[in-house]
Amino acid sequence: MDLIVTDDYDALSRAAAERIADLIVTKPTASLVLATGETPIGAYRELAATLRQRRADVSRLRVFQLDEYLDLEPDDRRSLFGWMARTVLDPLGVPLANVVRLDANAPDLAAACRAYDAAAAAGGFDLAVLGLGPNGHLGFNEPPAPPDAPTRAITLTEASVASNGPYWGGADQVPHRAITAGMSVLLAARQTLLLVSGARKRQILRRVVEEPATPDVPASFLQRAANVTVFADREAWPSPPPARAANPSAGRSA
Ligand code: PGA
Repeated sequence: MDLIVTDDYDALSRAAAERIADLIVTKPTASLVLATGETPIGAYRELAATLRQRRADVSRLRVFQLDEYLDLEPDDRRSLFGWMARTVLDPLGVPLANVVRLDANAPDLAAACRAYDAAAAAGGFDLAVLGLGPNGHLGFNEPPAPPDAPTRAITLTEASVASNGPYWGGADQVPHRAITAGMSVLLAARQTLLLVSGARKRQILRRVVEEPATPDVPASFLQRAANVTVFADREAWPSPPPARAANPSAGRSA
């Protein structure tokens, strides 16, 4: 697990966008899983500009949805697919037909989750762009979540309801159930970028990077995944500045 600390959120966004762009330019048929949430918005904005500059072909990318609320009408403003379309797919010009969705309205949710896992396992993710929940979740893999958790329906913890509140005008607007890509498919990604910004993520980020991996902090299992880079701004990782190679004792494994 590498840790790259940037001066501020803008620098984090630029650095992460460069990394994503490099992958897309090298492999225009890449499979990506792209988080929603506030943190990656700047990186997606930079990415759109960078890909235009580099004249990258995004028409053959495959994008997997990371998570989706349950119990919403398909055109609900709170759809996370809608958020992903607005913040990253449309700005990049990725056809919506290229998206493997988490179908929250499927008549058989368990079957939809199994189909998602099968599609993900078929080629694997070349890149996962993830945010960090204040409670240590990845996607909506709420604690406790073991590393082999499959894609599934979950109930949001109080912490996630609270942290999602500002997206929609208050915690009372946040759906209480969701489906999430499982820990298992996420941890198998060939490359992962974990984007973490702001003082409110300080404590949880320390636990992710420095403490033994535990289901109580699902993101801590990234210590065991291949090719993980944490991009944190100085608010999230104040000092001292270990610019790289956090947690060498955790080692790396494929
Ligand atoms: P945020 O959300 O990027 O809006 O902080 C991250 C998350 O809850 O996973």
